[in-house]
Amino acid sequence: MNRAQMDIFENQQICELSPDFYGVFYEEINHAGDGGLYAELVRNRNFMDARLPEHTAWYQGRAVTENGHVEPWPMDDPLPGWRLHVTGHAKGEMQGTTQSPRNERVPNQLKLTASQTDCGEVTVYNTGYWGMTVHPGTYRLTVIARGTISSVRAFVETPYGETAAEAQVSGIGESFSKIETTLTVSRRASGCRLGLTAGCDGVLMLDFVSLFPKDTFWARENGMKPHIAQMIADLSPSFFRFPGGCIVEGINLSNAFSFADTLGPVEDRPGKYNLWGYRRTDGIGYHEYLTFCEDIGAKAMYVVNCGMSCQARQAEYGTKEQVESFLQEAIHAIEYAIGDPNTSVWAARRAEAGHPEPFPLAYVEIGNENWGDEYLARYGLFIDTLKQRFPSLVYIINDYGAQRSDVHPEYDLIDEHFYVTPERFLVMTDRYDRYPRNGKGVYVGEYAANQEAGRGNMAAACAEAAFLIHMEENGDVVKMASYAPLLCHVNDRKWPVNLICFADDHVFGIPSYHVQKLFSNNRPQTMLKTSFSVDSFTGEAQIRANAGVAKDGTLIIKIANFSREETEICVNVPDGYAPAGLYAVFAEMPETENSVEEPQRVSVCTCSASASFLMKPYGVYVLTCVRGTAEKM
Ligand code: AHR
Repeated sequence: MNRAQMDIFENQQICELSPDFYGVFYEEINHAGDGGLYAELVRNRNFMDARLPEHTAWYQGRAVTENGHVEPWPMDDPLPGWRLHVTGHAKGEMQGTTQSPRNERVPNQLKLTASQTDCGEVTVYNTGYWGMTVHPGTYRLTVIARGTISSVRAFVETPYGETAAEAQVSGIGESFSKIETTLTVSRRASGCRLGLTAGCDGVLMLDFVSLFPKDTFWARENGMKPHIAQMIADLSPSFFRFPGGCIVEGINLSNAFSFADTLGPVEDRPGKYNLWGYRRTDGIGYHEYLTFCEDIGAKAMYVVNCGMSCQARQAEYGTKEQVESFLQEAIHAIEYAIGDPNTSVWAARRAEAGHPEPFPLAYVEIGNENWGDEYLARYGLFIDTLKQRFPSLVYIINDYGAQRSDVHPEYDLIDEHFYVTPERFLVMTDRYDRYPRNGKGVYVGEYAANQEAGRGNMAAACAEAAFLIHMEENGDVVKMASYAPLLCHVNDRKWPVNLICFADDHVFGIPSYHVQKLFSNNRPQTMLKTSFSVDSFTGEAQIRANAGVAKDGTLIIKIANFSREETEICVNVPDGYAPAGLYAVFAEMPETENSVEEPQRVSVCTCSASASFLMKPYGVYVLTCVRGTAEKM
């Protein structure tokens, strides 16, 4: 067993911790939004999912960009998510078509042909995102269609063939109309599908089909699933970074994220290839993102493309004109968020969308994981223009590779990313001690112990805790941090380790989630000098600890016991303080993970508050002390 002792020097303040230190990084990866946070149940609601990624050519299952970047793109299913089912002697056919579209930008439709419907049924089913899960309540069904089939029976069917809810969709005519109706579900069912059965012989051109619960986070109309949204809200993030990540950049400039494409009625949003193997709907568009930030009390951090696509994917470097157009796009996005509706058309659009007040946009990052001369030239143009136009915002520069070499002199924060093994984080716990104190800050925009860490285990969580402890102690340099990525549907894991995972209506946080939540909800304002001694025979025990005082005067002590052994710790609490709470995240093994089946194998436990206690191997602890009679142990 190891032994450790910690001393806290109450009168020696080492730095202030930014109140925005803890935030989240969101990206549409692993079906984070579509099939995840976003509450839509219908997959491929606008029939665009099989569309080839923008500005690529296809041959034998691969989409290739002009610069030679290759993405696998199977074309065997032109209508993913949709299936035809015909019973009895009825006859039916389902085809994709772009004939006479309602909206040229979203031309794809599903053409259903039915005959002999008096002798059987012709139904198209949507299977959702690996099955639909419904709960007691009301669902809004929206169908945009035209054709000679004037009505369809819409129903939600359980895997056992029972009808969980149904409604008639009628009034379909020669030209496109948008028909809305409600379906009422009386009990929970998972693995369901939505069926649309032709009411008569004829042809039906479906342009858009949506099934959306009324029960969303904060009851927002085009909103989020409450159980996933609440997991994010429980992290108490001070900022919310959007839209990524590599999707900011695209595999080429044609599928770089564009905020303007994500505004307005959802049926008019074409979506885009999102670079993580599927096409996204942009249902969580810029407006929904900003609204969500407000709902969870987070400041918005928006990442703009500066006219170059992903450098790790054979970048396309935009021409002068293209760069200028990305710059205009950035200006418009910022105006949309914080501009004055009386002077800006983009801000006026925000007001029209029901939000005349500005959104809480505070941070703008220029580029994602970009580097080199091409980046710095574009960055220079963007920072000069944006800073002059929107001086109140905080601007972030990329430092891909965290080399801090040759960066532009004009920036507020520099974004460093770390995806490493658990033990790498331990050896990095003096990194920021060596950084210059020159008024420039660091934003650790993406980090995770995601190598040799399973799907996120206790050892990884403990290593990240050690790194967080170090970053907090260097709060004069490290101003903000966000773990990445945030969300993952367990059926589409594109990234090895992700903070919050889900399938149908189950959601769980990996051990790192519980550390993030514990640390974020116990935030010091002022960091104090501490000293720490460890008695470990082999020196294997890597224990990191810090102490700080919160706004309300609570003394917060954080400790990560990155050791294969237990450690007996004695914290010399300053006179006048008494232990008030002791919280721990630990597991029986460093390899222990949470899962859909065992979502709480690792979570936060409340222990009896004491200044001396036994720390489990790879355990993470927060001890809070309040002013009172300290019982010295
Ligand atoms: O978090 C996943 C990816 O990791 C992000 O899209 C990118 O910025 C980084 O490489």
